[in-house]
Amino acid sequence: MKQQIYKGKLTEFHPLKIAKKQDLTKNTFSLEFEIPTDLAGLFSFDAGQYVTVLTEKDGAEYINDYSITAAPFENKISLGLKINSDKSSASLIHNQYNEGDLMYVSKPAGRFTLVSKPSEFRTIVGFAAGIGITPILSHFKNILYQEPRTRLFLFYGNKNFENLAYREELDQLARFYGDRLQIYYFFSQENTSNSFFSGRIDEKKLNLIINQILHLDDTDEESTIWDAVDEVLICGKGKMIKSLANACYHHGIPKNNIHFELFEEFNEDIYPVEKEFPLIENIEVEYTMLGKNFQTELPDNREKILQQLLIQKFPVPYSCKSGICGSCECFLEEGEVELLENEYLTEKEEAQGKILACMSIAKTKKIKLNFDFN
Ligand code: FES
Repeated sequence: MKQQIYKGKLTEFHPLKIAKKQDLTKNTFSLEFEIPTDLAGLFSFDAGQYVTVLTEKDGAEYINDYSITAAPFENKISLGLKINSDKSSASLIHNQYNEGDLMYVSKPAGRFTLVSKPSEFRTIVGFAAGIGITPILSHFKNILYQEPRTRLFLFYGNKNFENLAYREELDQLARFYGDRLQIYYFFSQENTSNSFFSGRIDEKKLNLIINQILHLDDTDEESTIWDAVDEVLICGKGKMIKSLANACYHHGIPKNNIHFELFEEFNEDIYPVEKEFPLIENIEVEYTMLGKNFQTELPDNREKILQQLLIQKFPVPYSCKSGICGSCECFLEEGEVELLENEYLTEKEEAQGKILACMSIAKTKKIKLNFDFN
C-alpha cells in the first residue's frame, strides 16, 4: 500500500493486478483489475463512481481519476481510459502496463450516483460524449439489472464511428433489454444518412430529441416520454454539461434530478448565478489544510473563495471548480457564505457546516475554513 497527498487529502493506493487490458478504439482502452479477497469490501462500489490510479515513470508519479465502467453486480473493477496526447497518463499506462502487472489504485469514490428504486416505474435519460460514456455505462447496466420496470434512453455523441467506444457492449444491452433500452448515436465529424444524428449533443439537439424521439409515450397517451423523465445523467466536457443541464432544467427537470460528472477542470458555473450579494471588501480568510494554517485577505466577495485563493497562489484542493467533484469540500468554522450551486454535498453535510469552497461567496468579513477531515 502507498499513501500520497491527492487533492489536499492523504489517499491510500493498493496494488491491484491487471487482469485484462483491451484496446477499444484508436485512442481508448479498457483495464480490468483482479481484486484480492481481503480487499473486496474496500473495492465495493456504486454505479457511477471512479477510482484514482497512481502510476510512476522515471521517478515521477502521476495520479488520475478514472470512472468505473462495470456495474456493481459484475463484481469487478473495470475502467475506460482515453489517450488525449502522447504525454498523458493514459498514454503512459497504455505503453507501460500490461496484463499481470500491478497498478496502485485507490478505493472507489465519487457521487455521480443514483438511489436504486427497483419497485418503481422510472424513465432515465443519459447523455454521454466520448469517454464520458464510462460512468453512464455502469449506471445503465446497473439500472437494467436492478430495476425491471425502469426504461432508459441513451444519447451518445462521438466525432465519428472510429471513436465510438463500447459500441458492442451497448448494442448487446440494447438487444437484450430491447423493450427497456433505446440508444441513439450522434456524430460530429461523420456524415450520417439522417442529418438528425449529425452534430454535437447540445441544447438545440435536445429540443429536437424531445420533439422527435421523446414525444409520444405508449404507456401514457396524455403525456410525452420527456414529461415522464425522472432522472437525467450527463457526462462529457464542461461546455456540453452546461448546455444540456440548463436545457433540461428549462424543459422542466428539477436541478436535483439532473446529475453530471465532469472529467476536466471547468471554470464556469454550470447554472447562471441569479442572486446578487451586498459587496464586502477586505475579507479575512483563515484555513487549515493538511495540518497547516494559512491566512490571507481577499479584496472583496465578487468572486468565489477558492478561485480567489488560487489567484493568490495558495495551496487549496480542487478539481472541477464547478461544484461537482467535491474536492474543495471543507467545514466552514467561522463566518457565513452563500453556496451558489451544489451537486455534491448532501443536505445533512450542509447542515453540519460543510461547504464547497469553489462555489462559495463570502457574506461576512471573516471566514475560517477547515479542509482536514475524513
Ligand atoms: S473543485 Fe470540484 S466541487 Fe469544488
